[in-house]
Amino acid sequence: MEVIIQTALIVTAIAAILAAVLTLADRTVGNYGQVTMVINDDKEFTVDGGSTVLSTLINEKVFIPSACGGKGSCGYCKVKITEGGGPVIATEKPWLTEEEINDNVRLSCQVKVKNDIKIEIPEELFNVKEYAAIVESVTQLTPTIKKLRFFLGDETINFKPGQYVQLKAPAYEGNDEEVYRAYSVASSISEPNYIELLIGFTGGIATTYVHHHLKEGDTVHINGPYGDFYYHDDDGGPIILAGAGTGMAPILSILQHMSDNDIQRETTFFFGARTMEDLFLTEQLKKFEENLNFKYIPTLSREESPDWTGEKGRVPAAIEKYITDGAPYSAYLCGSPAMIDSIVESLVKQGVAEEKIYFDKF
Ligand SMILES: Cc1cc2nc3c(=O)[nH]c(=O)nc-3n(C[C@H](O)[C@H](O)[C@H](O)COP(=O)(O)OP(=O)(O)OC[C@H]3O[C@@H](n4cnc5c(N)ncnc54)[C@H](O)[C@@H]3O)c2cc1C
Ligand code: FES
Repeated sequence: MEVIIQTALIVTAIAAILAAVLTLADRTVGNYGQVTMVINDDKEFTVDGGSTVLSTLINEKVFIPSACGGKGSCGYCKVKITEGGGPVIATEKPWLTEEEINDNVRLSCQVKVKNDIKIEIPEELFNVKEYAAIVESVTQLTPTIKKLRFFLGDETINFKPGQYVQLKAPAYEGNDEEVYRAYSVASSISEPNYIELLIGFTGGIATTYVHHHLKEGDTVHINGPYGDFYYHDDDGGPIILAGAGTGMAPILSILQHMSDNDIQRETTFFFGARTMEDLFLTEQLKKFEENLNFKYIPTLSREESPDWTGEKGRVPAAIEKYITDGAPYSAYLCGSPAMIDSIVESLVKQGVAEEKIYFDKF
């Protein structure tokens, strides 16, 4: 017994010494001084080494999509690092294909700037700007979803219907971490000095800030636009829209765009919710039914009330009921990963071409 206790004490002591040595090494070796960062062989910055590529770029007002706020859990912050990135580290590997690794693609939130570095990013990211936006109104849509309308003052944002922005949640009582989180724009591109977001409460850092701290008149920082989920002005064929909860946000922006431009493509919106209490913005959707060639089909999975005469069950079942020949359709989907996967399965089963199915999972 004595031997076991002595061994445990020795192992603990060695671990403590190792941790101290590593911390010391990081403090001394981690002081990398000033280095040169070159972007797209064109823009050159002198930056302090030691931070991640992502935060170094943000300091230089170059914004990279970073939906998880740099935790290495979204895979959105990919850039090409052609020189000075060092070897790929374990936290990047789950997000990178073999081909990407060979092509020098890296997760910018995981790579530290330690020496001169060369980076390539898509040119359109230079159009991403940071806005100081004033909260003009906050509307409680359901017990857990708020709609926020932000005024950008003299600034305008040039986005495509369906794209998202990132909202900065500053530190607040009970949270000392400043984070960025992605939110799909719900408003119309024809109102470029306003942004509307639908934000659901999850108990996490940003949604606690939005639901419990943010109020009308406050200023927030928003950057964007980002994303390759947006309306395609393609073959003019019929459209399926599908989503649940705050997944309605980009769909509203798409519908608003269709309404502003009198786009009369046959469009059906399948919206999944649990009960009648979870339905929102019904009046706005009914108005689209008046202006557009549009049908709104909410479907409730847990409603017992006899007052509900609409569809019951989950979205895939409703799609399979209403769409028998999917061949001419394109589809725009927004919701949880599991929901999107099951809708995609149903759409493909009904004959919708996979290349015409666009989605944002969150
Ligand atoms: C492209 C994109 C667009 C998005 N658009 C929207 C949008 O329009 N509206 C919107 O509300 N959100 C949207 N999100 C999700 C959003 O970015 C945040 O992830 C979400 O608001 C939670 O942030 P948080 O800081 O509060 O939680 P975090 O602090 O990141 O998470 C803390 C914990 O909260 C819990 N949690 C977090 N998210 C969920 C969840 N969805 N369900 C259950 N538990 C959860 C988990 O336990 C998690 O570990 C989008 C995400 C992406 C990638
Ligand atoms: S910001 Fe999410 S993985 Fe890098």
